[in-house]
Amino acid sequence: MFNSVRFRITLWYAAALAVTLTLFSLLVYHSLAKSLDENMDQLLAFRAEGVADALETYLETERIEAGKYTAAAAKGGVFYKIAPELVKLHADDPRQASVGLRIMDASGRELENSGRGDAPELPERTLKEARRGNAAYDTIKLDDASGGEDLTFRSYATPAAGSGGTAYIVQAYRSTYHTQFALRNLRLMMAALVPLIVLLTGAFGMFFARVALRPVADMARTMRQITAENLGLRLTPPPTKDEIRELADLFNAMLGRLEDSFLSERRFIQDVSHELKTPLTILKGELEVALKKARSAGEYAAVLQSNLEETEKMSRIVGDLLTLARFDNREMRLARESVALRALLDGLAAALAPAAEARGITVSVSGNSTAVQGDPEQLARLFRNLLDNAVKYGAEKGRVKAEVFSDDGRPAVRVTDDGAGIDSADLPHIFKRFYRADSSRSSSGFGLGLAIAKSIADAHGASIAVKSRPRRGTTFTVTFHKSA
Ligand SMILES: Nc1ncnc2c1ncn2[C@@H]1O[C@H](COP(=O)(O)OP(=O)(O)O)[C@@H](O)[C@H]1O
Ligand SMILES: [Mg+2]
Repeated sequence: MFNSVRFRITLWYAAALAVTLTLFSLLVYHSLAKSLDENMDQLLAFRAEGVADALETYLETERIEAGKYTAAAAKGGVFYKIAPELVKLHADDPRQASVGLRIMDASGRELENSGRGDAPELPERTLKEARRGNAAYDTIKLDDASGGEDLTFRSYATPAAGSGGTAYIVQAYRSTYHTQFALRNLRLMMAALVPLIVLLTGAFGMFFARVALRPVADMARTMRQITAENLGLRLTPPPTKDEIRELADLFNAMLGRLEDSFLSERRFIQDVSHELKTPLTILKGELEVALKKARSAGEYAAVLQSNLEETEKMSRIVGDLLTLARFDNREMRLARESVALRALLDGLAAALAPAAEARGITVSVSGNSTAVQGDPEQLARLFRNLLDNAVKYGAEKGRVKAEVFSDDGRPAVRVTDDGAGIDSADLPHIFKRFYRADSSRSSSGFGLGLAIAKSIADAHGASIAVKSRPRRGTTFTVTFHKSA
């Protein structure tokens, strides 16, 4: 199961999802944290600046010079009347609770504080900045003496300046507890949700992958049953139009081709056995009869002569089969010479003359002296087979024509007879081994001649075609694709 495509796809998918979700969570978390921080900073600044503005207005109206004013001198002064009010006014907003406000003098001593407990002390650096007239943010940790959780504050300090410079420092502060709490919850939720979502999606993925791949499992089951004995079996293609369907169709097509060649191979073996069995039976019968009793030398000679003929027949069959097998296995070494077609046909016609004469057939050769590249012996064999058939199956007292011509610039040879022709039902098969359109008509052939002719044509890159009209005659055409 762990090696299955289903598992691997699911695993990759889940891994990709985990990475994506984690990145997404980190992004959400950080942007939330950032905006919470920014909100807090804005709020603190807004509050502190509000108080500072009010104080500056106060300083202006009272024309109190900064520096002259000290906390001690001002005891009971107006400042102490307005400071608690100011602090209260700006701190006690129920919508923005828990913002503390503190007013200090320029030295950092606390004058007023809205909070109840400890306020975070400003670092020296911030005090210095405030005296110089600059506001500053700080994150300040307060150790909890009672051993509880440490408190962290965010603080903003801004100066309120009178005519003599910084008179007061206003600090707004707030515990970061709430934002930290919210962020911690978010972290926990994400840590729990991301794996959960990945697991759930993985489970769904496994399920859907199983559904999607079910046809593959079905196909595998059928494939297991296919053997040489039942090559007729076919996969049932899924009703979808997807890759799996295509695969099933391709596999079926492949099975079809394998079945065809397997069956023809079987038929071929049967044919070979059959062709060889006949002469062997004759041979055996004659020998048995001859051995029954003593015979004269003349009788023995007649039997041996007949045996020789049968043996020659068998060796012709075996020779032809060997030639075909060599072509099939591409073991046939072809010479590459320039072969003049006209001269070749003239020679073949002359050699066939006695056989043609016996049937009263005239063989004529025409055409120019075109030459092609090829093996002269094999090409002679090709055309000999065609001429041989024409003389054999042509009409008695008829005419056989061999013509060299040019088919669109390609050298070609046409062999025509005026015989009985080939039935259109036989036409697609005549190049097959051992195929004879009418086996009773002739005893001299085995049906291998055209198969060999085709193999030779193929090996020369030439094509061989046949046209036939019953009772009118047959034409075989060999077309070469390159001239010499
Ligand atoms: N010119 C032709 N006219 C009629 N039939 C032909 C001709 N050439 C071939 N055939 C048919 O094709 C079959 C196959 O030819 P071939 O392979 O040469 O076998 P074979 O000559 O041994 O019979 C022949 O048996 C014959 O029926
Ligand atoms: Mg033949």
